[in-house]
Amino acid sequence: MFLLLAKKKGSASGTFSICAPRFRATLLNMRVDLNGKAIRLVQDDITRVQMDAIANAANRALVGGGGVDGAIHRVGGPSLMAELNIIRAREGGCPTGSAVATTAGLLPARYVFHAVGPIYRDGNANEAELLASCYRSCLQLAEQRAVRRISFPSISTGVYGYPLDKAAPIALQAVYGHLMEQQHTVEEVTFVLFDERTYRAYERALQAKTLAEWR
Ligand code: APR
Repeated sequence: MFLLLAKKKGSASGTFSICAPRFRATLLNMRVDLNGKAIRLVQDDITRVQMDAIANAANRALVGGGGVDGAIHRVGGPSLMAELNIIRAREGGCPTGSAVATTAGLLPARYVFHAVGPIYRDGNANEAELLASCYRSCLQLAEQRAVRRISFPSISTGVYGYPLDKAAPIALQAVYGHLMEQQHTVEEVTFVLFDERTYRAYERALQAKTLAEWR
């Protein structure tokens, strides 16, 4: 059974508030409860949201970059790249659809899971499976480390060009499938979405998913 809670920008009612009070403008958020576990959406900067683990949208060479990867390295500090250098030397990088773990440096988390999403071509190059696999890999790393709360950015929908309305349901389905497994330790997954357009795409996908499950 699902419980859908949402607080819209500018909403007068406080009854749906589910995040700790934070005095910043623009926050959009939504939460779906799934039998004691939860999927949350927030519009925010992922480097500012406290979690046990933060997922990053990295590249195969694990060399850092712009977008959310750049922000995570900037805030996390040089220890992240130092750890990635060791992983790169040992494993040669990280294949598309997979993820590697480092500690989180100065970020408000214990771990960062550096996931490599697919570059979107035409939708016929196994992109959907590779994208889902990114999320599943991070969730597997989370389980191995007894992580309860993990945040994700919208992997591949920036410079890698994955259309948002295609990527959002894939991301949500991968997370939903994981949370429905009873034996897992991950309890809460938060998509931290940088801009309103991205937030709205995930909101639409989560509402559609919730309604489909209710039917
Ligand atoms: N917090 C949350 N989300 C963010 C942040 C942030 N601080 N900064 C950017 N984003 C969002 C973008 O707006 C986009 O919705 O993350 C999403 C993913 O965009 P990219 O960072 O461009 O990631 P991706 O499309 O997966 O491309 C990965 O970009 O930076 C390089 O090294 C990275 O080569 C890799 C490629």
